[in-house]
Amino acid sequence: MKDMPPTDTETLDREARAAAQALQDERLIADPDTLRLLFTEARTHYGWHGREVTDETLRRIHEIAKMGPTSMNQQPMRVLFIRSDEAKDRLEPCLFKANKPKMRAAPVTAIVAYDLNFWEELPRLFPPNKDASDIFRNNATAAQINAFRNGTLQGAYLMLAARAVGLDIGAMSGFDNAKLDEEFFHGTSLKSNFLINLGYADTAKIFRRLPRLDYDTVCQTL
Ligand SMILES: Cc1cc2nc3c(=O)[nH]c(=O)nc-3n(C[C@H](O)[C@H](O)[C@H](O)COP(=O)(O)O)c2cc1C
Repeated sequence: MKDMPPTDTETLDREARAAAQALQDERLIADPDTLRLLFTEARTHYGWHGREVTDETLRRIHEIAKMGPTSMNQQPMRVLFIRSDEAKDRLEPCLFKANKPKMRAAPVTAIVAYDLNFWEELPRLFPPNKDASDIFRNNATAAQINAFRNGTLQGAYLMLAARAVGLDIGAMSGFDNAKLDEEFFHGTSLKSNFLINLGYADTAKIFRRLPRLDYDTVCQTL
């Protein structure tokens, strides 16, 4: 047995371990400007300049965000980018009043959704467990919990990926999910989660930074 050629999966596993080790050996950490861009100085935006967000940029954001981890590699997020006037006309009635002008001014609004039937993809997304789909096929509660958990994580990855490529973002949950789902996802297994306005922001429209909870309020070590 020892002399048999390695299977494809063994080769892939060995290559993956070597790549992970090579990255670890580089001892990379995010540089201070990257942290400012993604977290410490980045702001939520409400006003937008007209500059276009290209299809290429939207694809780039997805290429980055898709690499963020999800449980069982489920990847339940689905995204509908709203850009045309016709699509905005359909989205606008679903939004709370204060959010309408923010969406209207944004070059693109991402509807971050999740697919309750995400588990249909598991045979290829999570091949180590060939019965992974069965966990969710007849368990709508487990499917909903996992789709929402991992879809929300992926929405966060999408926001940070957008910042990483130089876009500004403004997330919005102030809308009628059921109405939006009826308008855009009727007859499908998709459910809306939240929205992300994407573009190049008019910084005149932001407010002062609001406080963040401190370590001792949030964290404990046992
Ligand atoms: C999931 C989510 C939903 C939000 N919903 C709304 C919204 O409906 N309308 C709005 O004006 N801001 C909304 N916000 C913006 C938050 O209030 C804002 O991100 C938060 O106060 C932090 O602001 P900062 O990033 O500028 O520090 C939302 C943010 C997130 C992450």
